[in-house]
Amino acid sequence: MSLLQQSPLGTRSALYQLHSESTSDNKQELVTGLRQSQAQINPKFLYDALGSCLFDAITQVPEYYPTRCEREVFDHHGDAIAAAVGRVQTMIDLGAADCMKAQRLFDRLRPEQYVPVDISVDYLKTSVMRVAALYPELDIVGVGIDFFQTLALPKQVRPDGRLFFYPGSSIGNLNVTQAQDMLKRIHEACGPGGKLLLGVDRVKSAAILEPAYDDALGVTAAFNLNVLRHANRLMGSNFDIEDWAHRAIFNVDESRIEMHLEARHRLKVKLPDGDRIFEQGESIHTESSYKYQPEQFSQMLRDAGFKQISHWTDSKEWFSVFAAVA
Ligand code: AVI
Repeated sequence: MSLLQQSPLGTRSALYQLHSESTSDNKQELVTGLRQSQAQINPKFLYDALGSCLFDAITQVPEYYPTRCEREVFDHHGDAIAAAVGRVQTMIDLGAADCMKAQRLFDRLRPEQYVPVDISVDYLKTSVMRVAALYPELDIVGVGIDFFQTLALPKQVRPDGRLFFYPGSSIGNLNVTQAQDMLKRIHEACGPGGKLLLGVDRVKSAAILEPAYDDALGVTAAFNLNVLRHANRLMGSNFDIEDWAHRAIFNVDESRIEMHLEARHRLKVKLPDGDRIFEQGESIHTESSYKYQPEQFSQMLRDAGFKQISHWTDSKEWFSVFAAVA
């Protein structure tokens, strides 16, 4: 991985784009996924510029509770969270997007350096400029990186007093093995005395979960369908979104919400290596969102090497926030 671009955005801010994949890697990954008997698209492809905006909109629909529940935890338990986290020199925000979640904690946590990390570098650029204008004294190092692949950060990111901030239950978009591996990698990257503050969605009934991923306004459906347009741009395929229906199903055995795109009728899609037939009802699996019991997740944190684990939840007990020491 190499440093490709440095953009001085203000006196104390910079943006780095670290390449993790080439266009041909993305194309190959898409083709391989779509050729499987259960066709798949990696959920990272949901987040082109429009996808990131649609995800923002999802957080505002009434059915999608995680963002509001997590905010309630930070608002109601902010002092206890700040006490558990202690002095923060460098706050590393994994999947920062608009940086709003971290920004709401700045007054309490008072980081000296802020490192927003996101795969969608164009989106991150706007966010970094906004935060830099609001906090001119804050040392900001924006990093465009696929952090599921690597947590190797530029040397400008200070090694001491690190807090990894991983909100929104984004860890739920990894399977359990990948999530365990991610926690181990964060533990390693924390350095001595480093901390982790993360949000995790909890198991609940399908009656609550399924509408959260299939809202009445159709915002989540648009977010899911948009992945096909992104795929078309990346590999020159000819998906037509009119041919596909959004589905969100709670898989109880796997404890995960699955998002699929289901073919409305038998159809043929042009892929770079030839046509792919989809039968009516056949689906492309585009995302899983795992839900955890707090005890199970605490154990995963311990297995990754974290200690001094603290846990808070919202008034409905739908969402968990954990703080832990590396
Ligand atoms: C980003 N991630 C935590 C969201 C989730 O809840 O799994 C993505 C999402 N997909 C559909 N709605 C929201």
